[in-house]
Amino acid sequence: AAAEKAPYPHFMLKEIHEQPRALRDTLRGRIEGGRVVFPELEEAAFHLRECRRLFLTACGTAFHAGLVGKYLLEKLARLPVEADIASEFRYRDLTLGPGDVVLVISQSGETADTLAALRLAKEKGAKVLAITNVVGSSVAREADWVLYTWAGPEIAVASTKAYTAQVLLVTLLALYLAELRGTLPSEEIIPLVEEVKFLPERVAQVLAWEEEIARLAQALKEQEHFFFIGRGLDWAVAEEGALKLKEISYIHAEAYPAGELKHGTLALITEGVPVVALATQSHLFEKMLSNIKEVKARGAWVLALTADDQAVAGETDVCFHLPPGNPLLMPAVAVVPLQLLAYYVAVARGCDVDQPRNLAKSVTVE
Ligand code: G6P
Repeated sequence: AAAEKAPYPHFMLKEIHEQPRALRDTLRGRIEGGRVVFPELEEAAFHLRECRRLFLTACGTAFHAGLVGKYLLEKLARLPVEADIASEFRYRDLTLGPGDVVLVISQSGETADTLAALRLAKEKGAKVLAITNVVGSSVAREADWVLYTWAGPEIAVASTKAYTAQVLLVTLLALYLAELRGTLPSEEIIPLVEEVKFLPERVAQVLAWEEEIARLAQALKEQEHFFFIGRGLDWAVAEEGALKLKEISYIHAEAYPAGELKHGTLALITEGVPVVALATQSHLFEKMLSNIKEVKARGAWVLALTADDQAVAGETDVCFHLPPGNPLLMPAVAVVPLQLLAYYVAVARGCDVDQPRNLAKSVTVE
């Protein structure tokens, strides 16, 4: 029954809609009295408290969830994080050894490069903490400690609900480590932990924009290039939004840290080029606004995602206002309209959404 897509035309759309449920299941039992609880990490506590840095490695969408984790772990748990694509991690001469902890993220738990990175880390004497969606997968069996996302089986090649569940879990991990490592007072941890509980509801609110996004997709379907820009956590989400569009619609999409545009990419921004601008991070808001003006001045067509900042609306062609909340919790919500956009653009172009050309759900070859 889990493999049944009806009434949805594609598994991807079904899985996009399953996100509130996937997040609720991933949250279940993990918040108690304003604290994050991970009984799975009892034996890891010593290592996680004492380690001086964290390595993080994954492929594809899971890596993008890792990028969100990098920002949150540094911000909340004051832990420097070295994030690396698994196929790069493996072939670097890593300064990795006993006392180090490597966080591995993989939906399937079977990706060849990720698995090889895990094995290398263990060989070097590091401890491995894995986030995976598949119980009993190779990554789950070989890691020292495992945190499961409870997204349920994901069938569409383009990952959606597994990504948001991974983002939720890295957020919980950062809050858990903030307490464990004493880097944030409980007066700051508790409200954030309490707010995390609202993420499934916020995602459900954003899913209601579906029809409007489908209409936009119709208007955008002939485009051959897209740019996604953002700063900080928004940049991490921009990377995932661009990947979704590339994977299923075959449109060339590039994600850029907005401040880096002027160092090259701006040359590609001409009349009518679509730019998706994420502006959910209040401390970076003014900077984002000037980047939006920069691309507008070159004739770009700008779709913005913002939290509650009205100022963006006046500068853009289309502006979506995400449910307000702490900027640190925006990624899991902000990605959802980008998933819908990719989905509806791909459908409008007549693409095989669930089985895009040249891609596989789980890449078990190197
Ligand atoms: C493949 C899939 C991607 C996925 C990546 C990593 O390339 O097409 O959607 O993000 O593998 O998969 P994993 O199962 O390790 O998260």
